[in-house]
Amino acid sequence: MVPVTTQPHPSRTPLAELGADELSAYLERQRAAYQELTERGLTLDLTRGKPSAAQLDLSDALLTLPMSSTDGDGVDVRNYGGLAGLRELREIFAELLGVEPAQLVAGGASSLTMMHDCLVQLLLHGAPESPRPWAQEEKVTFVCPVPGYDRHFAMLAAYGIEMVTVPMRDDGPDVAAVEALVRDDPSVKGMWIVPTYANPAGSVTSQEVAARLAGMVTAAPDFRIFWDNAYALHHLTEDEAKSADIVSLCAASGHPDRVLMFASTSKISYAGAGVAFLAASERNIRWYLDRIQWASIGPDKVNQLRHVQLFGDAQGVRDHMVKHREILAPKFAAVQQALSAELDGLGIASWTHPTGGYFVSVDVLPGTAARVVALAKAAGIALTPAGASFPHGHDPLDTNIRLAPSFPPLAEVESAMAGVATCIGYAAAEHLSGAGASAD
Ligand SMILES: Cc1ncc(COP(=O)(O)O)c(C=O)c1O
Repeated sequence: MVPVTTQPHPSRTPLAELGADELSAYLERQRAAYQELTERGLTLDLTRGKPSAAQLDLSDALLTLPMSSTDGDGVDVRNYGGLAGLRELREIFAELLGVEPAQLVAGGASSLTMMHDCLVQLLLHGAPESPRPWAQEEKVTFVCPVPGYDRHFAMLAAYGIEMVTVPMRDDGPDVAAVEALVRDDPSVKGMWIVPTYANPAGSVTSQEVAARLAGMVTAAPDFRIFWDNAYALHHLTEDEAKSADIVSLCAASGHPDRVLMFASTSKISYAGAGVAFLAASERNIRWYLDRIQWASIGPDKVNQLRHVQLFGDAQGVRDHMVKHREILAPKFAAVQQALSAELDGLGIASWTHPTGGYFVSVDVLPGTAARVVALAKAAGIALTPAGASFPHGHDPLDTNIRLAPSFPPLAEVESAMAGVATCIGYAAAEHLSGAGASAD
């Protein structure tokens, strides 16, 4: 569960309940605080969920690995071949992702590329159980839980795929809304989910929600769930969320090919220079390898072997993730601390308290998110554009802001977040008092 809350505060009254004079006094205080913020000459950046240099340092043994040119099976990793990836690496990650090694491909360096490959192959050639290319349909629609990952939405937009949104809740997408959308409309071919520590909501899709998604009636016979488990192992506390067993659930409910699961070591080892994985039914795996055989003679097995040697086994990966947690947890605590200190009790913002992943999602007063981001920018604090977590970058309520505290050093996260909290308070006071954006 990810509680989304504004805590009460013993000595604060919600802004909306203040009288005109009190609101005007609050606005003046916020204006002064903001003025002071702009004079500090900050250049801080909370825009993208990238690992910090200290996190990347954890994997620097990769720079001198592999220590051999053959893997445990005697495969010469310097040569072509082995489209499905090295057995030893697939075994490690099959255990971590809860699938069988035969259900897993270890590929190149980016899971986003694998998602793109799957989408394009579905558009061009259709699915194994229904080989009519999606591109031949008059319309293809995806269900998109929001807030969600901007690059998913950008990819769909790039291929002319329509997007319908459903709310992302604490236990995953609003499954009743999904069921209603997919039941009768055959143009609804798929949906995207970040099931574990979602980007940006931090929520974890429960086994119950996953079971309903696996079993729901879909008008499209070749419906696909793009299950982007990018943060499967990225815990921020010792209370580690377990990803739902979607591949087994789909098989058990008679839709074994419904799900394509993706993951990568981008935020485990090196971002963009790790290894990406696809997990699915054996038929989907055969379909995928069959399609990409025209594009590749085999993945970078040297990189795969150095990852085998870096981690050793699944427990090695888990131990490695604890070191990431030790670096990341204080930054996430700093975000909570800054927001609480400034905003608790005011009724002008609520935010997630994620126990994993890379983001905090903040909902500010409807109509003020873009203003907050603009105020922060003018004060030298770069935030992800308001609306980025919605299809076509459009948040209909202009309320959501995604914070990504992983990359900057802790002290910068603290300064940036104090500034963001000031901007949220200032924008809310302007909005409620009708002072508008002319205040600076
Ligand atoms: C949900 C999600 N999926 C995928 C990616 C990118 O993964 P990769 O580096 O494996 O392409 C990111 C990166 O931020 C992400 O947040």
